[in-house]
Amino acid sequence: MSKICVNIAWPYANGAIHIGHVAGSLLPPDIFARFNRLMGNEVLVVGGSDQHGTPITVTAEREGVTPEAVAERYHEINKKAIEDLGIEYSLFGKTHCDTHFEVTQGIFRDLMGKGHLYVRETDQYYCAGCARFLPDRYVEGTCPKCGAENVRSDQCDRCGAAFEPGDVLGARCIHCGGSPEIRPSEHYFLRLSAFRDRLIEFVRANDHWRPNVKAFTQNWLEKELLDRAVTRDMSWGVPVPVEGWGDKVIYVWFDAVIGYLSDSIEYSRRVGDPDLWKRFWQDPETRHYYFIGKDNIPFHSIIWPSILMGVGGLCLPHDIPANEFLLFNGEKLSKSRGGAVDVPSVLEKHDRDAVRYYLAANMPDTHDAEFSWDDFQARVNSELVSVLGNFYHRSLSFTHKNFGSVPPQGEGGPDAGVAEAISSAFEEYRARLSSCDFKKALKAVMDLARFGNRHFDASKPWALVKSDRAACGAAMCESLRIARALAFMAWPFLPSSSEKAWAFLGLPGSPLDAGAGLPLSPMPSGHALPEPSPIYKKIEFEKEAEPAAEGPFQAFRRLDLRAARIISAEDHPSADRLFVLKVDVGEERPRQVVAGLKAYYSKEQIEGRPAVLVANLKPAKLRGVASEGMLLAADDEGSGGKSVLLLRPSADLAPGTRIDSGVGAPAQRIEYEEFQKAEMILFDAKDGKTSSGMELGVSGRVAAAVEGGKAMALTDGKGCTVTADGEISDGAKIR
Ligand code: MF3
Ligand code: ZN
Repeated sequence: MSKICVNIAWPYANGAIHIGHVAGSLLPPDIFARFNRLMGNEVLVVGGSDQHGTPITVTAEREGVTPEAVAERYHEINKKAIEDLGIEYSLFGKTHCDTHFEVTQGIFRDLMGKGHLYVRETDQYYCAGCARFLPDRYVEGTCPKCGAENVRSDQCDRCGAAFEPGDVLGARCIHCGGSPEIRPSEHYFLRLSAFRDRLIEFVRANDHWRPNVKAFTQNWLEKELLDRAVTRDMSWGVPVPVEGWGDKVIYVWFDAVIGYLSDSIEYSRRVGDPDLWKRFWQDPETRHYYFIGKDNIPFHSIIWPSILMGVGGLCLPHDIPANEFLLFNGEKLSKSRGGAVDVPSVLEKHDRDAVRYYLAANMPDTHDAEFSWDDFQARVNSELVSVLGNFYHRSLSFTHKNFGSVPPQGEGGPDAGVAEAISSAFEEYRARLSSCDFKKALKAVMDLARFGNRHFDASKPWALVKSDRAACGAAMCESLRIARALAFMAWPFLPSSSEKAWAFLGLPGSPLDAGAGLPLSPMPSGHALPEPSPIYKKIEFEKEAEPAAEGPFQAFRRLDLRAARIISAEDHPSADRLFVLKVDVGEERPRQVVAGLKAYYSKEQIEGRPAVLVANLKPAKLRGVASEGMLLAADDEGSGGKSVLLLRPSADLAPGTRIDSGVGAPAQRIEYEEFQKAEMILFDAKDGKTSSGMELGVSGRVAAAVEGGKAMALTDGKGCTVTADGEISDGAKIR
């Protein structure tokens, strides 16, 4: 029996986790932990919510609530989502708690005492307009390494480069859009450079690492290894345990990785065995695995090992099987892309094991993987349901109906062909899972199910039961043996449905109680079989809400209109009439929108303005700059004027609020041509009628969709209309 510590990357508590997190860093460790428990190993599973840092404070400021409120809200949401997915932690912890503060500050002091931390004056971004320092996510700019735009000032999510203040090009304050100045500020630094030789040796010795992790880490180590600041000028986080440092906190990445240890300690305390964690962290025989996304590699392969080495006496990572990204239409999946991919919404519609199956079978382990709902449906239906589910159901229901209990083996003992198929599948499975090759392990399971179907077909039990009942019973006993091996082997991937199959096989307890060698033993016979029902069901998608063939406002209903706020405006680098705007639509990141408004607005006039965004317009490049949507504006050139005015909600709506008059059925993506089909006009309505006499129900300057002689005011469904401020002729077109 070995001891395994499964460490799971801590998702930021600033939003609901989505299936990209699940496929990338949450599901693989659950499969791995369950597999190891199945094999009889002792497993500790730690991780939780990453509650500090600018990801939390930026969200809190946007919502106008405290960081703590955001951190607690999403901790609860994500804790539940993870449970609902059947992902089991020893303790799903959080970083904003006493034990974590105590352990983090303890390590900070320890490293200080050993000379691994030192104070240095640094240059920091400071926004004069906002009168504050701007750490990390408060500043965005262009990556000097790969050229990606709008990257954060601490790390490029595209190429993985890490930055210090001053590194990103064209830095700007995400709050006011201003260019920050650089001001001095003292910070603690981790003396990474002192660990370089030991790190190089550590990486060299770990030749089982995935090539991407190894290459990335070696690449970092080959260059000069710069010491990194581990404190920040902000107030949300773990306080720096030093007199006079009250206006700074420990850097979120320094505290989050320590969470693996503090969560182990907190768990030990909660189960009343306060020294339990030592067996997992101080015994060099314990193997530590870190399941993370590729953007987290250096923090786990360089910074955390340095902290561990600095403290001393603690286990270093054994493996860091970092996954690549799950993509949606070629882009990194995020809450704002891919339509309701957050876990709570997905689980409202789908069984957890169908989701787990697809994300394991399509895991972005060695390269990015593309996610789509069509592919999800296709693979669940044609593999999970038609191969595994079909095999379970046909063997269970046939045997139950014709025998009622597990029939005895054939006279010559267990079928050698079946035994061989099971043992070679099991061997492959164990080897693959031991080395974190989840897709190949799952394939071994599915191939065994395919073998089971072939064996069932070849036995022709429907005929055999009439000609030779005993031979039929023997064949079914073998089928059920295969089914039992499948329920056992599939359990780490598909726990609840495998337990269901286990119960239909009339077996006691769960696969976990069966012992590591179970697939190799013959099927016990004689016990009664309960009446089975199909374990997996086909996914039938309700047709995506396409507009009705008949009926009004078809084109309008396909638009995804959202209340928005313009955060900042920049000149387009190569087009005189265009602004490049940052627009808040209540998503994780602001959208970049290129708009032809320069002839009508100054930057000062446009920044901070409320607006209405067409949010599902296919992203496009306008004169070389990406644009992710379009702002609605009224234009009266057609009706004799020459104004262009932005539209805005008539009252203060939260960015992201739908403005679809309550009738929307937005398509996931629309082409510009489709947008043009939705006719919209700005009216000066009187007594609930437009100037041309169409019924509108509201009065004043209101935008309306128009079709077939009817008009419908644009609203949030609760009475807030859309208007334009400023002078413009009645009947101006909206475009
Ligand atoms: N919160 C980080 C992210 O989402 C991951 C932190 S993992 C840990 O990218 F190492 F810090 F724990
Ligand atoms: Zn600012």
